[in-house]
Amino acid sequence: MPKIGNIELPDFPLLLAPMEDVSDPPFRALCKEQGADVVYTEFISSEGLIRDAAKSVIKLDIYEKERPVGIQIFGAELDSMLQAVDIVEKSNPDIIDINFGCPVKKVVCKNAGAGILRDIPLMVKLTEEIVKRTKLPVTVKTRLGWDANSIKIVEVAERLQDVGTQAISIHGRTRVQMYKGEADWKPIAEVKNNPRMHIPVFGNGDVDTPEAAVRMRDEYGLDGAMIGRASIGYPWFFKEVKHYFKTGTHLPPPTMEERVEAARRHLQMSIDWKGEKLGVFETRRHYTNYFKGIPHFKEYRMKMVTSDESADVFAAFDEVLEKFGDFQFA
Ligand SMILES: Cc1cc2nc3c(=O)[nH]c(=O)nc-3n(C[C@H](O)[C@H](O)[C@H](O)COP(=O)(O)O)c2cc1C
Repeated sequence: MPKIGNIELPDFPLLLAPMEDVSDPPFRALCKEQGADVVYTEFISSEGLIRDAAKSVIKLDIYEKERPVGIQIFGAELDSMLQAVDIVEKSNPDIIDINFGCPVKKVVCKNAGAGILRDIPLMVKLTEEIVKRTKLPVTVKTRLGWDANSIKIVEVAERLQDVGTQAISIHGRTRVQMYKGEADWKPIAEVKNNPRMHIPVFGNGDVDTPEAAVRMRDEYGLDGAMIGRASIGYPWFFKEVKHYFKTGTHLPPPTMEERVEAARRHLQMSIDWKGEKLGVFETRRHYTNYFKGIPHFKEYRMKMVTSDESADVFAAFDEVLEKFGDFQFA
């Protein structure tokens, strides 16, 4: 069974990927309830944390019910990253994760995220110093390389392991690919097959069906799957994958009642966490996914995403249940 430091995980664990504006406490709680074995926060800027920027600091909020939880940080300046580690530790997460995979320009141009894939010695140095700074297990999330001509992930993963990284999650794309094309799991399997590797190697990218998760486990031999987009508005994905592992059969999709209940709880948890105004506002982006595939739904979606009062959003949920309660999801 894979372990991250002293954290024992089940066979082939499923990890909720860090996702900006998505992997917040309410969403993480829903995914955890549905079977996610480890959850990660969205990436948090080390510079923002040091400046005490409210937007960064609130992202440190974690709750007992979601453990084990990893807090993900990004940055390229050693000193800022170490100060960020000290701040993160006060939130008492189970894991500190370093983001070496974010492809967006404003991050990459500062050498942070996937930008660091152009400077492997710096990547290794930052990791080494962060590991030394904290007693918490440190994990790394990265991509295959900067571009197709610079894929050295086998060597990179080994060096990260050698400086104390406790697990590595690899997105099977390069930075240049962004999100285009298909994720390539072969180089991730090469990392796993390196006889010197002993830490868990988790695969990431395009695990969007239970069958894909089985392939990642059985054909590619990886230690677990990190799941991102397939879970957005669909926390049931974790349960569906686990059911498929056990039985080889598919669970029926969640009913309308279950979807409405999830949306309700998501909204309520957001309000409890951030207050009425922000809770209502920030949960809006999730509704489209919860209710995907229902014909003539626009009127109801509009109510959900334009109402400023939670009472009106909750009323819209009730209406949806009444009107579409029998809808059969494919
Ligand atoms: C909306 C969104 C936000 C993301 N934010 C982060 C982030 O904060 N940190 C990170 O390491 N990766 C982030 N990613 C990348 C995902 O963690 C994951 O590597 C990628 O989506 C591929 O996995 P998937 O095919 O299962 O979605 C984000 C992806 C999406 C779609």
